[in-house]
Amino acid sequence: MEEFKENTKEKNVPTHVSIIMDGNGRWAKLRGRERVYGHSNGVGSVRACVEAAIECGVRYLSLFAFSQENWGRPADEVDTLMNMIFKAIDQELGTLIKQGVRLRVLGDFSRLDPALAEAVRLAEASSIPPAGEEPVLDLVIFLSYSGKWDILQAAKSLARDYMSDPSGLEKAGPQELASRLVTAGIPDPDLIIRTSGESRISNYLLWQAAYSEFLFVDTLWPDFRKDEFRSALEEFSKRDRRYGKVK
Ligand code: IPE
Ligand code: IPE
Ligand code: MG
Repeated sequence: MEEFKENTKEKNVPTHVSIIMDGNGRWAKLRGRERVYGHSNGVGSVRACVEAAIECGVRYLSLFAFSQENWGRPADEVDTLMNMIFKAIDQELGTLIKQGVRLRVLGDFSRLDPALAEAVRLAEASSIPPAGEEPVLDLVIFLSYSGKWDILQAAKSLARDYMSDPSGLEKAGPQELASRLVTAGIPDPDLIIRTSGESRISNYLLWQAAYSEFLFVDTLWPDFRKDEFRSALEEFSKRDRRYGKVK
């Protein structure tokens, strides 16, 4: 394990890789099929990236599965997507646990169907490793998530906590807000990949992406498999991160 850790350090492996999984609809359209066909093939890419992440020594893999804006899609697509996400969690959970993966689902649960929200919470709880053991990989799924929503809910929580202590609020630093984001305790992403040729962040991790490296690839999500994941890590290893300093 120590040797493995040394290797990942030497090769400049990102601790946290995050992916905006985009292009399912276009992938299906290219094949003359309904959008849902793209979504279901995208599940295979999730599986492949989880395996690749474990093999490469990535510690956190996070995936943007459904944005707050995606609620505005036609109702049948929203329903299909939700059912597919929950079915995938249910079907993959056993394998994930065997692989040593801890599942976390983050987002605005108040907008989810209560029964589904409960099922997610149970799945998350059952993937927590026994005391004293660390997961091999944390798989974080962002569901009904948006960056502005996250910052706003954190800001409200901060304001509530300091309601009777205005001078304490004045002294609050960035960490006070970061610790109230839904990602509290998860390191910020080192690398954010977006598939499908779009070069935008689409209200994803706005705060957490402050110093992330970005990689925009043309590959549509259902085609983004192990080789593509490894290539992305290869590209990341060549980046020079300066964090505003002089090197
Ligand atoms: C990504 O694929 C999945 C979600 C956003 C939920 P899209 O459904 O956005 O596919 P395109 O971008 O229309 O091809
Ligand atoms: C971003 O993809 C959201 C997810 C991948 C979940 P979208 O397809 O919703 O983004 P836009 O509309 O092209 O910006
Ligand atoms: Mg899209």
